[in-house]
Amino acid sequence: MSNRATIVDDRLFAYLKDNFSSEDEFLAELQIKAKEAGLPPISISPEQGKFMQFLLHSVNAKHVLEIGTLGAYSAITMARALPDDGKIITVENEPKHYEFACKMVLESGLANKIEVVLADGKNFVKEYRTQNQFDFVFVDADKPSYLYYLNNITPKIKIGGIFAADNAFAFGFILDSKPERNPDDVKSIRSFNEYFRTRDNYFTCIVPVGDGIIMGYKKY
Ligand SMILES: C[S@@+](CC[C@H](N)C(=O)[O-])C[C@H]1O[C@@H](n2cnc3c(N)ncnc32)[C@H](O)[C@@H]1O
Repeated sequence: MSNRATIVDDRLFAYLKDNFSSEDEFLAELQIKAKEAGLPPISISPEQGKFMQFLLHSVNAKHVLEIGTLGAYSAITMARALPDDGKIITVENEPKHYEFACKMVLESGLANKIEVVLADGKNFVKEYRTQNQFDFVFVDADKPSYLYYLNNITPKIKIGGIFAADNAFAFGFILDSKPERNPDDVKSIRSFNEYFRTRDNYFTCIVPVGDGIIMGYKKY
């Protein structure tokens, strides 16, 4: 047994991308169109997508919430791992991203499974009432609000459901006291990871795909 993880160098990364990717022609084209439309290149990566699809299948997810839609790359990726009667609500606060995402959802043929909502994530969570608790929640938006999202979405997640958040490695700066980039976000992610990790009602882990996904399985 080794006490060090294998470093994913370019060769291994290419192997991952070539064999364990959720990206098809439609999603690759979506990324090109998103760039042309001036959207920032900050969506999940194809191997993250594959991993999330794996998780969704594992918990037989039907009801999914995403905070942070961008161009709907992750929403479309996730929707493809849901059953016919599955549904994703994805929340975006930037009108330009929202409009692009709506167009892509229509073009993807998955409009029956994906509802794009134009709203601030915190307001949406505060006001949203549902009879169907979520099986899976993916937070990929304003980092300082992750704690708020966890605490306020948890009652809306079923026992056995999953809360997952992107950028657990804080763009690689999680251990840096003076990060070169987004110091406030890095600080927020660091305290969020610590808080989430120590909740009794969740079994948590970080999976080192992309910039790291921290996730918790809701025990009670
Ligand atoms: C990293 S991107 C999301 C990427 C997307 N999940 C994907 O992988 O394709 C973050 C998005 O969250 C949105 N956002 C930031 N703060 C938000 C908020 N308070 N409420 C809703 N959306 C927000 C941004 O406008 C941006 O489109």
